[in-house]
Amino acid sequence: MLTDKFGRNINYLRLAIVDRCNLRCTYCMPEKGLSWIKQKDLMTDEEMLRICSVFTEMGVNKIRITGGEPFVRKNSIELIQNISQLDGLTDLSITTNGLLTEQYIPQLKKYGIKSVNLSLDTLDKERFLRITRRNSFDKVMKTLYSLLQNDIKVKINTVVMEGENMEDIIPLVMLAKDLPVDVRFIEEMPFNGGDTDISLKWNFTQIYSYIKECFPEIQKVDDPKSSTSYNYKIPGFTGDVGIIAAYTRSFCGDCNRVRITPSGILRTCLYEGSGVNLKDEIRAGKTDEELKNIIINSIHNKSKDGWEAQKLSLTESQIHQSMATIGG
Ligand code: GTP
Ligand code: 5AD
Ligand code: SF4
Repeated sequence: MLTDKFGRNINYLRLAIVDRCNLRCTYCMPEKGLSWIKQKDLMTDEEMLRICSVFTEMGVNKIRITGGEPFVRKNSIELIQNISQLDGLTDLSITTNGLLTEQYIPQLKKYGIKSVNLSLDTLDKERFLRITRRNSFDKVMKTLYSLLQNDIKVKINTVVMEGENMEDIIPLVMLAKDLPVDVRFIEEMPFNGGDTDISLKWNFTQIYSYIKECFPEIQKVDDPKSSTSYNYKIPGFTGDVGIIAAYTRSFCGDCNRVRITPSGILRTCLYEGSGVNLKDEIRAGKTDEELKNIIINSIHNKSKDGWEAQKLSLTESQIHQSMATIGG
């Protein structure tokens, strides 16, 4: 079992398999994209699989493959298949923008993918184009319905942006009425990959009050341990509604996760950019045992409350980072 010095058990690995993205969401990156990682600095499939294998041997039982759109990476379905066969893994999930996912759904089912978290900030085609700078709304909706038809659990992630998608909040909540989807609203976080500071206008309290005004019967439900979202039920609805207070609340106390970036950096906290580069250690010839010791050491020193410590002093370089390179 992997434990840090504050006694938190780390059983959840988020593996970002690609930094490139086929969308250009305004809160994530500029139109021109980011300075993408060079091919030689990206982990190979073998390196990714080896890292996952080492982590599962150490007690990680949940792996989430993240993008952008993980299927932008060549051969990602084979990589997912190989990861799905690792001993000890009980939950393999994907977070995606849904643009290229649909064609792989039969395989995802076969490999036991438990759930797919789908980014969708609006139900309006025009607004989708404005927010993502790409005209791909229909593709995402097709993916959503196809996932549901195939009985794959779906959570929708919606970043709430003042002046952009307020009109979408209630229609998105309504999706959970008849469909078995959980819809989660996310406070915008200070990672936009560009040069603009964010000023959070819609926080947890405002999002909640807005939904409650329309659905006064909304009820709190118990949140799973280490849940990113506060979860609610509206009587008569099939799916739940959640709010991820990514900016105003810290869930560091219950944190159970670490991240691997596409270039192999082990980020023990979303808010800590520099970490050991496991790909470099592999390329330097380290054995599995040596890798395990490096991981144990890094995780031992995982920061207590990365966000609480940092939000008061966000630096320019953090704002220039994007969730696309961190893996959400
Ligand atoms: P589940 O496995 O379904 O619980 O998914 P998840 O919520 O862990 O993952 P997802 O990829 O859907 O992430 C949703 C959002 O949660 C992200 O966009 C972030 O805003 C937020 N989030 C995820 N991990 C962290 C974290 O470690 N710290 C903070 N502050 N926010 C996070
Ligand atoms: N603030 C909040 N959420 C963000 N995401 C990407 N960038 C940001 C940001 N700046 C979300 C995506 C996706 C999840 C993995 O991260 O919309 O749902
Ligand atoms: Fe949008 Fe996610 Fe791609 Fe960023 S990584 S541009 S948030 S789809």
